[in-house]
Amino acid sequence: MTDSLNPGLEGVAVAETRLSQINGGQGNLAIRGFPIDELAGNARYEETVFLLLNGRLPTSTEYADFRDELSSHRQISEEVQAVLRRAAREEKPAMDALRMGVAAANLGVTEQDQGEDVRRVIAVFPTIVATYWRYRQGKEPVTPRDDLGHTANYLYMLTGEEPSEAQVAGLETYLNTVADHGLNASTFSARVVVSTGSDLVSAVTAAVGTLKGPLHGGAPGPVLEMLREVYETGDAERYVRETLDAGERLMGFGHRVYRARDPRAAVLESAAKRFYIDGGDADFFDAAQEFEDIATDLLSEHMPDRQLETNVEFYTAILLDGVGIPKDLFTATFAISRVGGWTAHALEQMDDNRLIRPSSHYVGDTQRSWTPVAER
Ligand code: COA
Repeated sequence: MTDSLNPGLEGVAVAETRLSQINGGQGNLAIRGFPIDELAGNARYEETVFLLLNGRLPTSTEYADFRDELSSHRQISEEVQAVLRRAAREEKPAMDALRMGVAAANLGVTEQDQGEDVRRVIAVFPTIVATYWRYRQGKEPVTPRDDLGHTANYLYMLTGEEPSEAQVAGLETYLNTVADHGLNASTFSARVVVSTGSDLVSAVTAAVGTLKGPLHGGAPGPVLEMLREVYETGDAERYVRETLDAGERLMGFGHRVYRARDPRAAVLESAAKRFYIDGGDADFFDAAQEFEDIATDLLSEHMPDRQLETNVEFYTAILLDGVGIPKDLFTATFAISRVGGWTAHALEQMDDNRLIRPSSHYVGDTQRSWTPVAER
């Protein structure tokens, strides 16, 4: 009997998870049972990761210990810095630098204490990204500060200046919002890798490579470019029509699972709104909201049978830009958050493992016979 064919594995479940619950029809998301809007605005990123890894919120002592453990693993070696310096000199994209940096930064990982390895992996992500960025700017890296939380320290390492409370709050909301999201493509990659009995660092490295693509984590940069262009021309409708007429996809819209507005869009929209109204470029924010309305209407006109609504990347672009994250680091900043989900999923897979090995339908040539090279 031939296995049924499911290109893109759409509608195929390959794992049970206790990490995040998505209702694609209604547009709901909960992390370990907490609705995303409640978690995102209240938690520190360290609390979200603790929750993902342990299934409950930390007590104040556990929170302090976990935060200290993470901050104690932030440093990267000179060898890793050299890799990042070269990546910056060659103007490699940030995600390539992150992939090389993650693989190199974990030379000391022993694979003897999974919990420790997870913390090491999560802790070095911001240092790798910020170090690469400093080199890209022709500057020396900023040494991480142990007294700052995960989010504040990332912002600090990018600029060498202590971030404002509003910046930290905005970025913290973002990091909490995107930390986990079911069996998205990069998380699936991570689970496939550990399902073979391979290790955590290999899983995370594969996940970074998967997240890079524009159909997954690579969309917010193009979203920002699109919004800036439309803000300047003031003609959102023409932009959307031309894009759709050219058969191109509108970045920041559509989703494999949601047939409603992505619930993370609402969380990030409110965070961005607070940011822009309190001293940011309020006109730009208003224009972006207007663009969303126009685009949603035209997408439904263009494709009435497929509900194409705003996905997480639309307001990601606006929020991260407002917070001061450079556009070239949007996807890498997504990875800084999602590594919490990747590692939690990898541990979940290891805990109850079955090799992930789908099948394929052969549609190539058959019944061929060998011709020696001289006769071809
Ligand atoms: N703009 C225009 N058309 C879109 C679209 C978009 N953003 N997203 C999907 N469509 C169309 C497709 O062209 C396709 O039409 P077709 O059947 O005529 O070819 C139809 O909707 C179904 O799309 P499909 O590619 O099967 O959906 P998917 O589940 O594979 O895609 C995404 C999900 C996210 C990859 C897709 O919506 C997309 O490319 N969005 C833009 C990129 C983006 O924002 N990525 C971030 C994701 S969080």
